[in-house]
This record gives sequence, C-alpha cells and structure tokens, in this order.
Amino acid sequence: MNEKISILGFAGSLRKGSYNRALLRAAGELVPDSASLETFELDGIPPFNADFESSLPEKVKEFKKRIKAADAILIVTPEYNYSVPGVLKNAIDWASRPYGDNALEGKPAAIMSASTGMLGGARAQYHLRQSLVFLKIFPVNSPEVFVTFAAQKFDEKGKLLDEKTKELIRGLLDALVAWTKKLKAK
Ligand SMILES: Cc1cc2nc3c(=O)[nH]c(=O)nc-3n(C[C@H](O)[C@H](O)[C@H](O)COP(=O)(O)O)c2cc1C
Repeated sequence: MNEKISILGFAGSLRKGSYNRALLRAAGELVPDSASLETFELDGIPPFNADFESSLPEKVKEFKKRIKAADAILIVTPEYNYSVPGVLKNAIDWASRPYGDNALEGKPAAIMSASTGMLGGARAQYHLRQSLVFLKIFPVNSPEVFVTFAAQKFDEKGKLLDEKTKELIRGLLDALVAWTKKLKAK
C-alpha cells in the first residue's frame, strides 16, 4: 500500500494562544512522508441538542464528512478539571450521532495533550480513552504524548521548542500510520 495515510486532527481548545492547538500545528510539521495531516477547528460547533440529530448543523455535517474521509484521527486535548473540555466532548458527541451513523466508528486514532500543569493532561487522556471504547475508535497505546508545563515548551508565537516532545510526536505519528495500515489490511 503506497498511498498516503490521511489524518484529520482536531484540538479541544478554542483559545487563540492555545498550547493544544499549537501542539497540533507542531504535529503538522512532524508528520512522516507516508502520511498527510489536515486539521479541523471546532469553533462554531453548537452545544449538542438531540432535537437536531436528524437535521445536523452545517458545521457538524462538515466535521462528520471530514472524519469519514480521513483514514485516521489525531485528537489533542487540554485537561479541564481532570477531564476533557466540554468543547471536545461536545464535538465528539455530535460526530457520534444520530445513532447508527457514528462518523468515528472504526477509526484508528492517536491522542496528545498539553497542560500548564505537571501531569500534562494525563487524566484527560484517560477519560477520553473511556469514551473511545463506546465509540469503537481504536487508539494507539504508545508512545503517550503528555506535554507538561506547556508554557515553558512553546515560544510566544506558539512554536514548539522542546526537542524531546518533537521526538515523541514523531513516534506517535509513526505508530498511528503503522496501526492504520495494519487495520486497513484486514
Ligand atoms: C476550566 C479549567 C480547568 C482546568 N483544569 C486543569 C486540570 O484539571 N489539570 C491541568 O493540568 N490543567 C488544568 N487547567 C489548566 C490548563 O491546562 C491550561 O489552561 C491550558 O493552557 C489549557 O489548554 P489550551 O492552552 O490548549 O487552551 C484548567 C484550565 C481551565 C480553564
């Protein structure tokens, strides 16, 4: 199989200076030749309302279309109160509906997180993994990318400076590509 693996990445922060969005941009620069990485901004996805499951908001339709078109997904999550931010959970909830049309089903995935704290979003990643079980998403297990003390690892323009983190991102993307190829071969 020679064609590139297409990855769709999204980050659970709307903040202009978000470290997690910066981490996603960094991944875009570190993606291996065997893959391509496009991103989707969650800004504009409305709060979930089941009354609109049969006539999805345009932004949600676009999100689902982009997920379905991708071979794999990359989720970048901040940690809010030991869990994933509502913005990210809300987007995932929309993508999984209506019942029977879960855009995420069967997708290989990778997860990264950045936080200003000393655990780098580890607790949020494990909460996220719990949701992935029901969604039938198949996440790569390692390497785990937890960007701790994020304020020290990016410059003022949001450029990732930390070489060790870059190495981990490369490892995660390589693992995602290999995992995706393995699942596609079945
Ligand atoms: C509502 C809220 C809750 C937070 N809770 C946590 C937390 O539980 N653990 C943690 O490490 N950081 C926590 N933080 C700090 C975030 O890691 C920090 O704001 C980070 O920069 C958010 O990601 P972003 O830069 O991508 O927006 C919290 C921040 C907010 C706004």
